[in-house]
Amino acid sequence: MSIGTEYEGKTVLVTGGAGCIGTNLCRKLAELNAEKVIILDDLSSAYEWNTPRAKNISFVKGSILDDEMLKRVFKERPDYVFHLAAHFANQNSVDNPEYDLMVNGIGTLKVLQYAHLLGVERLVYASSGCGVYGLESKMPFEEHDISISLHTPYQVTKLLGELYTNYFHNLYGLPIVNARFFNVFGPGEVPGRYRNVIPNFFYWAMNGRALPITGDGSETRDWTYVDDIINGLLAMGIREEAIGEAINLGSGMEHRVVDMARRVNDIAGSETGIEYVERRDWDAKTRLLSSIEKAKRLLDYKPQMKFEDGLMKVHEWFTKNWEDVEESAEF
Ligand SMILES: NC(=O)c1ccc[n+]([C@@H]2O[C@H](COP(=O)([O-])OP(=O)(O)OC[C@H]3O[C@@H](n4cnc5c(N)ncnc54)[C@H](O)[C@@H]3O)[C@@H](O)[C@H]2O)c1
Repeated sequence: MSIGTEYEGKTVLVTGGAGCIGTNLCRKLAELNAEKVIILDDLSSAYEWNTPRAKNISFVKGSILDDEMLKRVFKERPDYVFHLAAHFANQNSVDNPEYDLMVNGIGTLKVLQYAHLLGVERLVYASSGCGVYGLESKMPFEEHDISISLHTPYQVTKLLGELYTNYFHNLYGLPIVNARFFNVFGPGEVPGRYRNVIPNFFYWAMNGRALPITGDGSETRDWTYVDDIINGLLAMGIREEAIGEAINLGSGMEHRVVDMARRVNDIAGSETGIEYVERRDWDAKTRLLSSIEKAKRLLDYKPQMKFEDGLMKVHEWFTKNWEDVEESAEF
């Protein structure tokens, strides 16, 4: 799948553009010569030092819950909106369920209302494979096989976001796409209490701490490198066939948590090993694996990064940014 000049001269709004996926997406859009890339992010789980900078990127610090901020960014008449801002993720939502609903529910509704009011060429919504598929869904997960028996408020509100985008598409013809990401990893994710396992494992390994596996390590995840996600997102922004669709963006491969942990220790040169701790109550899914057939068909999506090489890239990023990472990481 190759992206050519489609984003050249366009104005693109990226909510949550200072986050792990957003920073990578905004850099790519800037490279593709978008006229203007506008980031709207309240920095609630992101850091100024980590926000992308380029002459065609502008950063607005503010919340998707704030109408004044939304008016300000939508006044720029974005052609495309990538709605990535979210209260992230499962454990955070269990600890703060009301705020999760505010940001992921009301916040998403507000973004959709402005996108509809001002008319955009496309709105791509960041949904979650871990969110919408359930224990009864057949593996590898296909897009039609979703669950309404979910395990965290985050999963509920990620699905809710899809229901709202579908509603705007059905009633108003808003050209939306629901992107279902699977376990995204890559350079740019600062570790922290509510962050994903790969950055946290690198952080601990580089601090000489044993890696705590919540379970027995045989659990699997479909870890997907952030550049592959970005390629999928960019295609969703322009492909006509994608409008109104929910599409998985995964690697289509399973890796065991224990193998990932051993590899992280090897790469980081840590000899402290692994420790096993209790599984988290909400963490009911022992396997995650996406079907990426629909993405291949509609988007020409082809994940490129080998899992091992992706881990090396994360380590390189940690090494390069270690001082900032150390200062920002909160547990
Ligand atoms: N990373 C993954 O593995 C994964 C998997 C599935 C889905 N997703 C979804 O992809 C999107 C991006 O994920 P990410 O990994 O980059 O997460 P992230 O937390 O790094 O990015 C989200 C960004 O949204 C910002 N934000 C939070 N509340 C906001 C608000 N009220 N107003 C404006 N900005 C706000 C945060 O500061 C952060 O920069 C999210 O919607 C997430 O639910 C991510």
